[in-house]
Amino acid sequence: MNILVTGNLGYIGPCVIARLRAVFPGARLIGLDAGYFADALLDPASLPDQLPDEQILDDVRDFPERRLEGMTSIVHLAGISNDPIGNQFEDATRHVNYEATVALAAKARRAGAMSFVFASSCSVYGFAEDGARSEASAVNPLTAYARSKYAAERALAELASRDFSITCLRFATACGSSPRLRLDLVLNDFVATAVATGEIRILSDGTPWRPLINVTDMARAIEWAMARRAANGGEFLAVNAGSDEWNYQVKDLAAAVAAALPGTAIHINSDAQPDRRSYKVRFDLFRRLAPRHVPVATLDGTIAGLVSALDGAGARRGDFPRDRYVRLKALLALKEQGLLDAEMRWTPVASVEPVEVA
Ligand SMILES: NC(=O)c1ccc[n+]([C@@H]2O[C@H](COP(=O)([O-])OP(=O)(O)OC[C@H]3O[C@@H](n4cnc5c(N)ncnc54)[C@H](O)[C@@H]3O)[C@@H](O)[C@H]2O)c1
Repeated sequence: MNILVTGNLGYIGPCVIARLRAVFPGARLIGLDAGYFADALLDPASLPDQLPDEQILDDVRDFPERRLEGMTSIVHLAGISNDPIGNQFEDATRHVNYEATVALAAKARRAGAMSFVFASSCSVYGFAEDGARSEASAVNPLTAYARSKYAAERALAELASRDFSITCLRFATACGSSPRLRLDLVLNDFVATAVATGEIRILSDGTPWRPLINVTDMARAIEWAMARRAANGGEFLAVNAGSDEWNYQVKDLAAAVAAALPGTAIHINSDAQPDRRSYKVRFDLFRRLAPRHVPVATLDGTIAGLVSALDGAGARRGDFPRDRYVRLKALLALKEQGLLDAEMRWTPVASVEPVEVA
């Protein structure tokens, strides 16, 4: 079994590689990544990059079809990964998240792969006040990021076949510790800020709903999707990945972090405009199709894991390089240094100069 994992040098990727290595010890794992956040390791000595059998440093937009020959499965995580980046790099978001995704799947199918797993997002549902969203609900992608994910899903639906299953996992917002941490995700941000400053500042009035999922549970869902049979869900499947119990209001997340770190002060912005990303999501289809792969992490355990990882990395110290773990800031720093262009392609200078993100 040869498994290509794109975006393996990001936040979720190292957890996926570790999971696939544990579950399929005989598989050959190949990573493909442009390496934008290669230096965002929380512990530089952890070396998660030694787990793949092969690491390709390339842009998924340029990936040649011949390199897909012999691949059994593709787990496609590479992409522009949130709304702020999507707003700043709108064209690149469409090119990477939509066009390159569809092109990669088409090449993989021609090359004889059996399955393709796409990291989609619950953000395709947008703002939804009237009840939890299921796969049968209307979508409402409000941002360049959400639109790119939904456009990719629709085009992927045309490529699935009996011999080539495609699963779009509409993930809840990720959280939890990973060797390449992100601090631009709501729970991770709250924990890092509480550890560093003893405070949590909620930008909204705290009432918006956010479905969450731990990164290790994302890896388990991906493992299921990769190996599922078409009889279980169909040749093409778009399914919400998370759990009903993990629909949280932002203020409850802050309270859980404060309970884990006594003395934390919570500031709520009661004058805030309504949050356009408030939504609850139903995950019963996933539970039905993948009963042995439903999320198992606990919120308290997730927070404890983050506190321990951040403490170990010196997040309480004044010189902790927080911006390194905020994806948009890291990308803008690379652009300001002339290493990335507006299309998020490495410039010629990047190949000879060492990359340093503040
Ligand atoms: N983190 C979440 O909450 C969440 C939720 C739903 C879906 N997703 C999706 O899961 C995937 C992974 O998310 P993440 O949190 O690990 O994001 P991340 O930003 O940490 O990682 C994305 C990786 O993709 C790589 N990449 C980006 N563009 C590329 C290109 N053109 N060619 C090759 N590599 C490229 C980056 O270098 C990075 O290593 C993304 O597609 C994201 O949209 C994430």
